[in-house]
Amino acid sequence: MLCIIVVTLLLEATPLLVNAEMVTTCESNVIHRLSCDTGVISVQAAVFGRADSATCSEGTSPQTDCSVVGTIEVIKKRCDGKKVCELNTNIFSLPDSCSSPLKYLQTKYNCIPAIHQVTCEHSLSHLQCDEGQVIFVYAADYGRRDRTTCSYTRPESQIQNTDCSSPTNKVAESCNGKNSCVIKAKNSEFGDPCYGTYKYLEVAYACQYPEVTQEDTVECICPVFTGSSKAMLCFRLSTALLLAAAALLTSSVVHTERVISCDDSHNVQRLSCETGVISVEGALYGRKDRETCSEGRPKEQLVNTECSQPGTLDLLKRRCNGKRLCEYNTNVVRTADPCPGIFKYLETNYTCLPAIHLVVCEHSLADLYCDDGQVIFIYGADYGRSDRTTCSYKRPASQIENLYCSDPTRRVSDSCNGRNRCTVRASNAVFGDPCVGTYKYLEVAYVCEYPGLVPEVSTF
Ligand SMILES: *[C@@H]1O[C@H](CO)[C@@H](O)[C@H](O)[C@H]1NC(C)=O
Repeated sequence: MLCIIVVTLLLEATPLLVNAEMVTTCESNVIHRLSCDTGVISVQAAVFGRADSATCSEGTSPQTDCSVVGTIEVIKKRCDGKKVCELNTNIFSLPDSCSSPLKYLQTKYNCIPAIHQVTCEHSLSHLQCDEGQVIFVYAADYGRRDRTTCSYTRPESQIQNTDCSSPTNKVAESCNGKNSCVIKAKNSEFGDPCYGTYKYLEVAYACQYPEVTQEDTVECICPVFTGSSKAMLCFRLSTALLLAAAALLTSSVVHTERVISCDDSHNVQRLSCETGVISVEGALYGRKDRETCSEGRPKEQLVNTECSQPGTLDLLKRRCNGKRLCEYNTNVVRTADPCPGIFKYLETNYTCLPAIHLVVCEHSLADLYCDDGQVIFIYGADYGRSDRTTCSYKRPASQIENLYCSDPTRRVSDSCNGRNRCTVRASNAVFGDPCVGTYKYLEVAYVCEYPGLVPEVSTF
C-alpha cells in the first residue's frame, strides 16, 4: 500500500499529467482521431469488435465478446509518441466469429509530456538531454501523415501520400540511455516506406535520470506487488508518468534543438515550437568538420572545414524568430558561395522561448499590451502568409494559395519596444505589400519586461 500512496502523492504534485481521453467510433470507414494539444499520445487501452453490449448498440443487444486480439498493439505502434493520429477500422480484419455488424473501435489514451521532434528527410536531428540525464524514446515514425509538415516548395506529388507510416525501433535502439544522439532522417537508415514521397521522422522522447528508469527498479520499489500483473501494470503506468514529469521539467527549462540539413536539392529544414516561439541561437551555412553530411561525397569536397557564410544567423533570425513554425530550404540562405567546390550544410541551433504570440488578419488591429510598469519587447514580426488555414475564412482560394509570402519586419519593434501598450494595423499601408493579391496576416511575438531588464535574446 505504501507504494500506491507514494505514487499518488507524486501524481498530485504533477496534476498536468493525468489527462485520459477516450474516443469511440461506431462505424467502419470513418476517421478515428486521437490528438494531444500538449504532450504526445500514449495509448492505454483499445477494443475493436465488441466488449460490452451497450456501446454503439442503438437499442439492440448484439453479441458481445468478439474483440480482435492485438488491437492495442496495432494502435500503440501507430499512435504512441505522436501529437495527432488518424486511422480507420479498415486497418483491422475481423475474425469470422464476429459477425455482428454493430462493432466499434474504442481507444483510451493519455497525453504525456515529451519532447516532440520532427526532422525532414535528409536532415539530421540531435536528441539531447541535460547533463546527467539520458534519452528515453517513446516512439518514432518515418513517413508522412499530413500534407503540411516538411512541405516547403516540395512538388505536390511528393506530399500527397499521407498514408505512409512506418513506426521504427531504430531510434530507441541507438539513442536510449545516451545523453545525446544524432539521427539521420534518411532511407538509408529506415528503408523507404513510400517511394517518391518526401518523408519526415517524428520522434517523441523524454530526458530522465538513469536510475529512475529501468523496469527492474519497478520490482525493487514495489516488492508487495510482485506477482500481481495488474498492480505491476498500474505501477508501470505511473513510472511512465514520472518519466514524463522529468521531461516536462527539462523542457520547461530552455532546451536547445539542433537540426542539420545537407545542401542537396530542396531539403526542407524545419524549426518548430510546441510551446513558446522560435529563437534562433546559432546558424552555419558552410562546413566545420569532415563528418557532417559526408555520406557518398568525395574527400576533396570535405577538406575545407573553416567555411561559413557570413550573415546566415541574421537571415534565419529575421525569418524565424517569434514564430511557432518555420520551414525553408538551403536556397533561402545560399546568397553566395562561401567555399566553391566544398559540399556544404546548414546547421541551426534554436530554442523555444515563452512569449505572447499574436496573429491578426489583414485590415485588423493588433493590440499589444503589458501589465502596469512593464514594457513590450518584440521577438519577431512577419506580415505575409505561410499557410493556407490562418485567416482563411471565406476568402477565395486565389487569395490564400501563396504560402511563400514572408516579410519579416522591424516596424513593429520600432513602434512598440519600450512601450506599455501599442496598436499596429495589419495593412499594406503600414508594411507595404509583399505579395499582391494574397490575403495576409501579421504574426507578432513579444514579452513583457520591467524596463532595464533587457532579455538576453537579441532580436533582429
Ligand atoms: C550548436 O550548438 C552546439 C552545442 O552547443 C555547438 O557545438 C555548435 O557549434 C552550435 N552550432 C552553431 C551553428 O551555432
